[in-house]
Amino acid sequence: MLATSRSAVRRAASKQYSLKNGARAASAWSNVPQGPPDAILGITEAFKADSNPEKINLGVGAYRDDKGKPFVLPSVRSAEQKIVDSSLDKEYAGITGVPAFAKAAALLAYGPDSAAIKEDRVAITQSISGTGALRIGGAFLERFYPGSKTIYIPNPSWANHTAVFKDSGLKVEKYRYYNKDTIGLDFDGFVADIKAMPKGSIILLHACAHNPTGVDPTDEQWVAIAEAVKEGGHFPFFDMAYQGFASGDTNKDAFALRHFIKEGLHPVLAQSFAKNMGLYGERVGAFSVVCGSAEEKKRVDSQLKILVRPLYSNPPVHGARIASSILNDEELNRQWLGEVKDMADRIITMRALLKDNLEKLGSKRDWSHITSQIGMFAFTGLKPEQMDVLAKEHSVYATRDGRISVAGITTGNVKRLAEAIYKVTG
Ligand SMILES: Cc1ncc(COP(=O)(O)O)c(C=O)c1O
Repeated sequence: MLATSRSAVRRAASKQYSLKNGARAASAWSNVPQGPPDAILGITEAFKADSNPEKINLGVGAYRDDKGKPFVLPSVRSAEQKIVDSSLDKEYAGITGVPAFAKAAALLAYGPDSAAIKEDRVAITQSISGTGALRIGGAFLERFYPGSKTIYIPNPSWANHTAVFKDSGLKVEKYRYYNKDTIGLDFDGFVADIKAMPKGSIILLHACAHNPTGVDPTDEQWVAIAEAVKEGGHFPFFDMAYQGFASGDTNKDAFALRHFIKEGLHPVLAQSFAKNMGLYGERVGAFSVVCGSAEEKKRVDSQLKILVRPLYSNPPVHGARIASSILNDEELNRQWLGEVKDMADRIITMRALLKDNLEKLGSKRDWSHITSQIGMFAFTGLKPEQMDVLAKEHSVYATRDGRISVAGITTGNVKRLAEAIYKVTG
């Protein structure tokens, strides 16, 4: 009896999903709406389709050498060789990843003098690069933050921040950051918005090399920002995707994070090794929580594991092993610090060259923001329509908000780029 009714149900189900009179049954996904294409991927596609041999791609947020080619750091090559030579096994890492990597990542961020590290109160887990760190952080705050589950991010911010935090279950609001008129920091608006936030708000801060504007607060401004955050009883979430990449000095770029901790604040931190080690596709990052005590850290550690386990069980090991040997081997570390500085310096030089070329062409505009901004990106101040003309008439591709990746500029293309920008801006 039971068997008969089960087979009847099976027959009915298979009839519903089978082809009937040649017609396909309705798919479960027939109501899935078409999503918009990713803005950056769209640029890459348009760039690829352009047959102009002198085309320039300034859309992608990845470092290029002076020939415009992807760059694998020599320290990364050496570390990788060491790892291959040591014939390590491919067993699973623990839930929080390669321990020697996570420990060294915390040291790099918080510094050798960090009281939080010395007192063993930094909970840390390896993550799937910076994005994964932000996602774990969003989920951790959503589950445990005792205050309002709203995170304030700068306007503008990295395009993925909103999506990552919304998918983590947080509400996303914006604070003033960028002043269109000065193409610089809206410091007064920034501080006023911090003061206007409800007490105990979560605030996301780009530790250095703000993406997309390239506009960072000065150290003095960070001091005032920390004061306002402290006064409001707010909770700082640092996103440090470019440590070392901004100034060329990993300690200098960590100033804001370390200053906040000195002021007694207990931030959380997302780190990425995509840019400063060029480990983009290896997905190496870390998420950490500065706790009040070693005992609290133990409890936080346990909850980080509980969060990560159902997400992806444990992270990949190869990239973390590379980063770990670079951070833990004295000689490789020295070499890497030099290479980070070289990358940062090339970018700083390209900024100066672009500005010089624009001025030589007779541009009457003030281009000083190109050199005062820092990191991989420059906010040119060009309007979306001008960016369209740059692409259509000059084969120069970048996002419509006027952001260009300075890493895509070379000594070979800077003159042509300046001419194109000059023609478009008059
Ligand atoms: C501000 C910021 N945060 C986080 C990331 C995350 O990058 P990844 O996931 O590649 O480490 C990026 C990458 O562009 C970024 O610009």
